[in-house]
Amino acid sequence: MSRLPIAILISGRGTNMRVVAERAAGGSLPVDVRVVVSDQPAAEGLKTAAAMNITTRVLEPREFADRPTYDRALVQLIEQYQPKLIVLAGFMRILTPHFLGAFAGRILNVHPSLLPKYRGLHTHRRALEARDTVHGVSVHFVTEELDGGPVVLQAEVPVLPGDSEQTLSARVQQAEHRIYPQAIDWFARGRLLLQDGRAWLDGKPLDAPVREPSQAAGG
Ligand code: GAR
Repeated sequence: MSRLPIAILISGRGTNMRVVAERAAGGSLPVDVRVVVSDQPAAEGLKTAAAMNITTRVLEPREFADRPTYDRALVQLIEQYQPKLIVLAGFMRILTPHFLGAFAGRILNVHPSLLPKYRGLHTHRRALEARDTVHGVSVHFVTEELDGGPVVLQAEVPVLPGDSEQTLSARVQQAEHRIYPQAIDWFARGRLLLQDGRAWLDGKPLDAPVREPSQAAGG
């Protein structure tokens, strides 16, 4: 089948980007990573992408007067690569309506919590402070509401006795690396779309996100 052109936006380590790019290169995910864009020149993920022969671009916010100006430049840069899907993979910026309108219905994000729980930052710390026994990760369409667009797929992750933010986030990342490629695969195959403000999978509106239950400890 033809491969869907995508752009991946990162700010940091880029492990989700790496997993998606590896699957694409290996032929098990029908996407073509046209470009990896970062707002941070020092993002480790840029080196990973370059080592995989993927085009990388950096757009630094400090070179622009304000957020709308930055986002207009970001849209222009991304449009050069004609992606049909924008994959936010740890891109730690709030996007403007201009950006969201330019790629409406074509932006996915991975967020480290079981949304609508723990929108925003420090999700692992908040789950530990609340003594949650189950934490997790969500893949959702991006809309104007911060971390509030329709959720497509979630995975539960157990919180284990003695967990720190680091151990918990490492377990959550394993789950991200499973479910983000899955949701991207659905979109690339035309099985997943955003319509009338809702996520649709295989022709049916998703009343609730698809949920992967908690894996056994260490799994
Ligand atoms: C991931 O854990 C992702 O869920 C989170 O940033 C990390 C990026 O990791 N995203 C957010 O918090 C967005 N609100 P990575 O750079 O190794 O893919």
